Amino acid sequence: MDSAYRLVLEPPSVDDYLRLRKESGLSARTREEAENGINGAWASASVIHVESGESVGMGRVLSDGGWYFHVIDMAVLPDHQRKGVGDAILTALLDHIDACAPNAYVNLLADPPGRRLYERHGFTESAPASVGMRRV
Ligand SMILES: CC(C)(COP(=O)(O)OP(=O)(O)OC[C@H]1O[C@@H](n2cnc3c(N)ncnc32)[C@H](O)[C@@H]1OP(=O)(O)O)[C@@H](O)C(=O)NCCC(=O)NCCS
Repeated sequence: MDSAYRLVLEPPSVDDYLRLRKESGLSARTREEAENGINGAWASASVIHVESGESVGMGRVLSDGGWYFHVIDMAVLPDHQRKGVGDAILTALLDHIDACAPNAYVNLLADPPGRRLYERHGFTESAPASVGMRRV
């Protein structure tokens, strides 16, 4: 990621959170969901485009604070993708985890756009031993 961008270990605003999810193609969430959840993560990272001041990327981590860490909300606005922003966000979050819990169990649910990024950071598919499941 070059100097056009600045990374902070903070969540985006509620407005930016909703916009980042929607415009990056993740499911849209309600304002109430965002307001209730935005400060609930164990760690958050945001990337700001310095010239415009716009929030262009984010990632968050849910955790018990001991050993269990779940990466969520990885999203970069389309105009700013493929410039290393997602990599910088994931690197910052994983460095923070490693500093706090050297033997952490770190997992995520990988949508296709993120899979190569996650693989570069050491993630492998958990199946067939463990399959991600969600309630529908
Ligand atoms: C997944 C996502 C967060 C990745 O963000 P990103 O900022 O594009 O990620 P990066 O730029 O670090 O890496 C993406 C690619 O760009 C390449 N890249 C990085 N810097 C580059 C540069 N300066 N020039 C050209 N390519 C570059 C990387 O090598 C990588 O290539 P690969 O995917 O072919 O291996 C983003 O694609 C996204 O928001 N997708 C939609 C939402 C989504 O699906 N999120 C994941 C949910 S699990």
